[in-house]
Amino acid sequence: MTETKQKRVLSGIQPSGEIHLGNYLGAVKGWVDRQAEKENFFCIVDLHSLTVPQEPEALRHQTRSLAAILFAAGLDPAKSTVFIQSHVRAHAESCWLLNCVTPLGWLQRMTQYKDKAGKQESVLMGLLDYPVLMAGDILLYDANEVPVGEDQKQHVELARDIGQRFNSIYGDFFVIPQPVIPEVGARVMGLDDPTVKMSKSYSHIRGHAVRLLDDAKELERSIKRAVTDSGNEIRFSEEPERAGVNNLLGIYKAITGKSVADCEADFSDARGYGDLKKRIAEVVIEELSPIRERYHTLMANPDDLDELLARGAEQARTLAEPKVAEMRRLMGLVLPK
Ligand code: TYM
Repeated sequence: MTETKQKRVLSGIQPSGEIHLGNYLGAVKGWVDRQAEKENFFCIVDLHSLTVPQEPEALRHQTRSLAAILFAAGLDPAKSTVFIQSHVRAHAESCWLLNCVTPLGWLQRMTQYKDKAGKQESVLMGLLDYPVLMAGDILLYDANEVPVGEDQKQHVELARDIGQRFNSIYGDFFVIPQPVIPEVGARVMGLDDPTVKMSKSYSHIRGHAVRLLDDAKELERSIKRAVTDSGNEIRFSEEPERAGVNNLLGIYKAITGKSVADCEADFSDARGYGDLKKRIAEVVIEELSPIRERYHTLMANPDDLDELLARGAEQARTLAEPKVAEMRRLMGLVLPK
């Protein structure tokens, strides 16, 4: 009998800003749902957060808070290695080594870089280099699959290019990863403006995001305020003016796992968008309330949380450290005795 090797999965999430329903439906929910089938590594990418200015105390709090959210959402330490990026030094080191095989033009073309850099007066070097750090996160673990939302697809493709370039110079060394984008939930839009994606950078703006830790009342309030059109037809649609209703139905579909036809049928008796929003709020509250409760329990036991993260980092190091040492050797560096 031939044994098929289990696929290795790696993904990451930034601790800056408040985690929202887009992060959950586009990434975290899929990580949790499929963790039994794969070998999994999930990284809280604190080094990536430093690419824009941060308040040190707030970043420290948000990093531990995000770890608690990931466990509360259902990542099981027996099935998934959850760790903080900066706890595994090989990430920063692989970034430097990969910088030395990555042409500058590849980075200047990244749409997220152009977008973020365009909004800032002074752009940090780290912001341009961000996708190389991300390529290191993925390549160090020889990940086959990288489950992400739509907005990270270009970065995963760049990680493939960087891995291929390294392999073509130094020999077949890295596994070339595939991005895995969910069919629904890959691009959850802002409630205040359904033409822009829901984003952590705007999650402090009232009415923009469905924040994972909001209580039931706040969740209901945000969803009731969601921008829709002036019609009353409840169906999926690609028409730009119907983006608000489409977004709400997409959220419903991603949470319930129902088909397009079943989702639309569920609203056939709804009286207008008020009813639609009420029911969306109900499924969102039902999905998020248990996560919020488990989150508070985890945060009340900081030693247990630190212990889980220490174990995660230790497991991650067993793969990442030999891999980066081999990178150094291949590139011609003298390894210490
Ligand atoms: P980050 O922290 O911005 O987002 C975490 C995950 O959430 C997804 N996402 C969304 N999905 C659907 N709708 C939205 N509105 C939405 N907003 C965000 C993102 O696509 C992502 O999957 N660079 C990455 C973190 C990273 C990483 C990695 C990911 C660092 N190293 C290695 C994969 C592999 C980022 O900033 O994600």
